[in-house]
Amino acid sequence: MLDLLLKNATLPDGRTSMSIAVRAGKIVEVAAGLDAPAQQVVDAQGLLLSPPFVDAHFHMDATLSYGLPRVNQSGTLLEGIALWGELKPLLTQEALIERALTYCDWAVAKGLLAIRSHVDICDPRLLAVEALLEVKRRVAPYLDLQLVAFPQDGLLRGPQGPEQHLSNLKRALDMGVDVIGGIPHFERTMADGALSVKLLCELAAERGLMVDMHCDESDDPLSRHVETLAFETRRLGLHGRVTGSHLTSMHSMDNYYVSKLLPLMAEAQLRVVANPLINITLQGRHDTYPKRRGLTRVPELLAAGINVAFGHDCVMDPWYSLGSGDMLEVAHMGLHVAQMTSQAAMHQCFDAVTVNAARILNLQDYGLEVGCNADFCLLQARNPVEAIRLRATRLKVYRRGQLVAETPLATSQLLLSGRPTQTSLMLPADQPHFTDSYLPA
Ligand code: FE2
Repeated sequence: MLDLLLKNATLPDGRTSMSIAVRAGKIVEVAAGLDAPAQQVVDAQGLLLSPPFVDAHFHMDATLSYGLPRVNQSGTLLEGIALWGELKPLLTQEALIERALTYCDWAVAKGLLAIRSHVDICDPRLLAVEALLEVKRRVAPYLDLQLVAFPQDGLLRGPQGPEQHLSNLKRALDMGVDVIGGIPHFERTMADGALSVKLLCELAAERGLMVDMHCDESDDPLSRHVETLAFETRRLGLHGRVTGSHLTSMHSMDNYYVSKLLPLMAEAQLRVVANPLINITLQGRHDTYPKRRGLTRVPELLAAGINVAFGHDCVMDPWYSLGSGDMLEVAHMGLHVAQMTSQAAMHQCFDAVTVNAARILNLQDYGLEVGCNADFCLLQARNPVEAIRLRATRLKVYRRGQLVAETPLATSQLLLSGRPTQTSLMLPADQPHFTDSYLPA
């Protein structure tokens, strides 16, 4: 007997009338029209069943701190970093844990079941590291939290000097933080930035760890840290283990230079995370008009065979005053800013907050195939494009075959003469959805 049989679902690749059979927390069968005895049977009524959303770039130590101790007046990245510096001495472990747990509640409600969070290691007390390791332990039954040791104040420029931050970072790794972070564009010079990339990649090679750096998060067309990151990745044989986050300077780089850079990144199997909500908010702040969008070159990176995910980055913190853990909102913004409007490109935007992000976290047993964990999300939409368009309601969220969140169907009652009595804003099932031309890779 199965534990759970989910029937009549549409999958992100377009297959319809699909059943997913679950036993002992795993998917044991995926087939069209499958019927078998199960302790629980759920009829998806033709709606979209997706693997859970994955956020490949977040800051859980800062989340939900908006307004503490004040708000960011200029709205810039640099004032955000300064503001975070004002807040750090005031942080308590209890408050950090409470805010992070609240955010994880929001995440689960939105079907977001895996998050890679950077955690600032510059405070020698490593208070945030301890707090987020505790959060990671507590949320483990329902959410995968992966931590990146992040020298927010710069590895080499910090007030306590380079040795201090490097030693904090190593201590954080010893305590159980999973990934090595960095911020080369915030070091004092291009040379120091390059040196920080080299040192951090060497540390990753020595310890057998993954790397995820904030890299070239500026509008400077001459910023070259992603080149160094790709070069060091190749030199040290870290292929497929290194992620460049943001890469906003690529938006402003010379086209000829980018044509040389993309193959280098592809050869290094560099992963990329763009953060559309934050990039469109923080970049171009020194421009008058025209104002640059600042998002990295997502379609071109994908065309070069590079794995690109969209991250949320911030929710209600010194850098961003909005957000709710909704990765469909992130995909929606990414689609617009990168002008990814073809059917194939819109599906790529959905992949950027699901499968591509899972690849960056190196999540095991993720997906809707036999043998994968029974983690999935039933959405009030008939396909990925409609899910993005509506930022679809997460009707049911499952973790290891157990229901962990549910939200009622979103319908509006209409009080109009001669018109239907309600609408869900979905196209009727029998109306063409224009997805025929999309063939999944
Ligand atoms: Fe970030």
